[in-house]
Amino acid sequence: GTPARRSQTMVTLTIDGQSVTVPEGTSVMRAANTAGVTVPKLCATDSMEAWGSCRLCLVEIEGRRGTPASCTTPVAEGMVVHTQTDKIRRLRQGVMELYVSDFPEQTILGAANRDNKLQEMAAAVGLKQVRYAAPEGTKLANHVEAADAEGNANPRWLAQDVSNPYFAYDPAQCIVCNLCVRACDDVQGTFALTIEGRGFESRMSPGMAGDDYLSSDCVSCGACVQVCPTGALLEKSVIELGTPSHSIVTTCAYCGVGCQFEAE
Ligand code: FES
Repeated sequence: GTPARRSQTMVTLTIDGQSVTVPEGTSVMRAANTAGVTVPKLCATDSMEAWGSCRLCLVEIEGRRGTPASCTTPVAEGMVVHTQTDKIRRLRQGVMELYVSDFPEQTILGAANRDNKLQEMAAAVGLKQVRYAAPEGTKLANHVEAADAEGNANPRWLAQDVSNPYFAYDPAQCIVCNLCVRACDDVQGTFALTIEGRGFESRMSPGMAGDDYLSSDCVSCGACVQVCPTGALLEKSVIELGTPSHSIVTTCAYCGVGCQFEAE
């Protein structure tokens, strides 16, 4: 996770007993990857600056208080990092459990059925059950309901947004990690998406409240769909036909940038 750093100054640290040397400014997560240690993550990508929103990549660092996110913590000379202590395992399971408690549970804890990072991470941290019950009448019971039992509308229970011709957005499967918003802003430069609401009511929204994808500034580039870790944003072709068995990467020759596209 997080883009690679270029620096002349090298830093040596220890991660889970392994010594690793990386350029100054590298994140602890990337250094761990270099050392062959995989740290669970949901919101870190190789294409955008780390944001530290999912809190799944927590680690312990000797001599430091707390459990910092490894994706946003830069390495330091002589640092000693632990990624698999009992405390870290407990915390990670707790974080995942909270995500899944607000999610169609069977999708996550059932058999793997598609490329779903939330499901993959639930398995990686060993989450087997969720102790927290969803409130009556919420999206877990019927996530296309637009209101709870008392008739109170909750934006995250609203029906899916299928207005875009190429992909659909299901708020019930959204963990509000912000990756789609950042991909739209930082990668595409379109600034079509935002996060609205707070707590359980927070959700990604295209444009102003009430707007759908089609009426927003979205240009259908698909950058948001590419980074979505849960399948909340998914191509309609995948919804209708299932995950493709193979894909082909082509390079666009329209300009000198050389953007690559994956065709399935
Ligand atoms: Fe580090 Fe999400 S991957 S906080």
